[in-house]
Amino acid sequence: MTTTHASPAPAVGAEDLSVWPASAAEPRPGELSVGAVALSAVAERFGTPVYVLDEGEVRRRCRSYRALFPEAEIHYAAKAFLCRAIARWMDEEGLGLDVCSAGELELAVAAGFPAHRIVLHGNAKTPHDLHEALRYGVGRIVIDSPSEIARLAAAVGPQGRQRVMVRVVPGISAGGHDKIRTGTEDQKFGLSVSDGYAQHAIARILDQPQLELTGLHCHLGSQITDVKPFLSAVRRMVGLMARLHEQHGLLLPELDLGGGHGVAYRPGEPALDLHRLARRVRAELSEACAAAGLPVPRLIIEPGRAIAGPSGVALYRVVSVKRTGGRTFVAVDGGMSDNPRPALYGVRYAPRLVGRAGSAARTPMTVVGRHCEAGDVVAADAPLPDDLRAGDLLAVPVAGAYHLSMASDYNMVGRPPVAAVRDGRARLLVRRESLEDLRGRDVGL
Ligand code: LLP
Repeated sequence: MTTTHASPAPAVGAEDLSVWPASAAEPRPGELSVGAVALSAVAERFGTPVYVLDEGEVRRRCRSYRALFPEAEIHYAAKAFLCRAIARWMDEEGLGLDVCSAGELELAVAAGFPAHRIVLHGNAKTPHDLHEALRYGVGRIVIDSPSEIARLAAAVGPQGRQRVMVRVVPGISAGGHDKIRTGTEDQKFGLSVSDGYAQHAIARILDQPQLELTGLHCHLGSQITDVKPFLSAVRRMVGLMARLHEQHGLLLPELDLGGGHGVAYRPGEPALDLHRLARRVRAELSEACAAAGLPVPRLIIEPGRAIAGPSGVALYRVVSVKRTGGRTFVAVDGGMSDNPRPALYGVRYAPRLVGRAGSAARTPMTVVGRHCEAGDVVAADAPLPDDLRAGDLLAVPVAGAYHLSMASDYNMVGRPPVAAVRDGRARLLVRRESLEDLRGRDVGL
């Protein structure tokens, strides 16, 4: 077994909370609390839709990464979800940060995150991205294309020095969906080993006195639930490190294996076993390095989803229930503008009724959003109580990653707020986008 299931099947009649934050509890029948705050109270106070982030769960996940990989640097992938509070939590928990734009960088630094613990990624870093990265003094910049080398060296200037890594395509196929597989040659990220682009880029970097190559980077893809692709990546990356040592006498002190650690979105789905990952990667790395006669590099990993995803809950209000064509459509007050993932990747979620105890009988229902597309589905075939009605609250677990960071202004409904819960208290982190916000950008007539 290379994967674990989120938890054993629940007792008949009990709600399966395996994909919910560890703090999730049922203080009374039908009510659900997270961080000791009733979700219905959060909806009441902040309105719906609203995203709830369990601060304790975020911190617990950071700590568990640090405990499992004590020798490694853990960089949180900000693209999963970033706001000032989460940047602060990452700093307090001793993690680094992976950013991929001047925007993410600026927000993190403005929140007080130390720039030297930030890594800049991106397949198309603009001159502005690079300029800001140098101005703030980020720890490392990950080179993703040959043209970036000269541009970056010129921007650093003759007196400067910038630490860089090279993003290598290891030729490994892994990930939960075609659109999020990045380890093979048929996609836009990285420099390939098999056609020699990676080796060529490395030789050019070594020629630039302004650039200091600290190591290799690879990111196989996202939502990977099997340990094996990571082990193959270790072998291939160490193989390349050995060749670089032979050719250039180079001993690279760092190896970044990217993120991609898969989580369960519904009870019973597989998730990446992080204990096993830590144990096997450590063993593979020391064996491969011993065989190649190389010192073991410092490991870096970049989880995003596995930290933020299961820590977040989306809360929606049911607007209408419609029975048609043999199906029950439950329409809620959010949808693809706050969560495009079902439309993009066909992901399935497990919403549940909160705030009141519904009837025991469950029927598969299609939870849809309020947007003007038939593909605006929040959760397909979700078993929900027969007596579900307008005004009810639905909570969707595992909503903390790649929802709001990918949210749009489609249909001008405005993006939802984010509230943090912890120890019985809720506080607003990001306010709701108002019509005024939307109107304010429209400056022509
Ligand atoms: N490092 C790099 C260089 C990345 O590109 C990514 C994600 C990560 C780390 C973090 O991966 P994670 O641990 O979160 O899987 N929108 C998609 C996911 C796109 C992932 C993009 N890169 C989704 O909703 O599933």
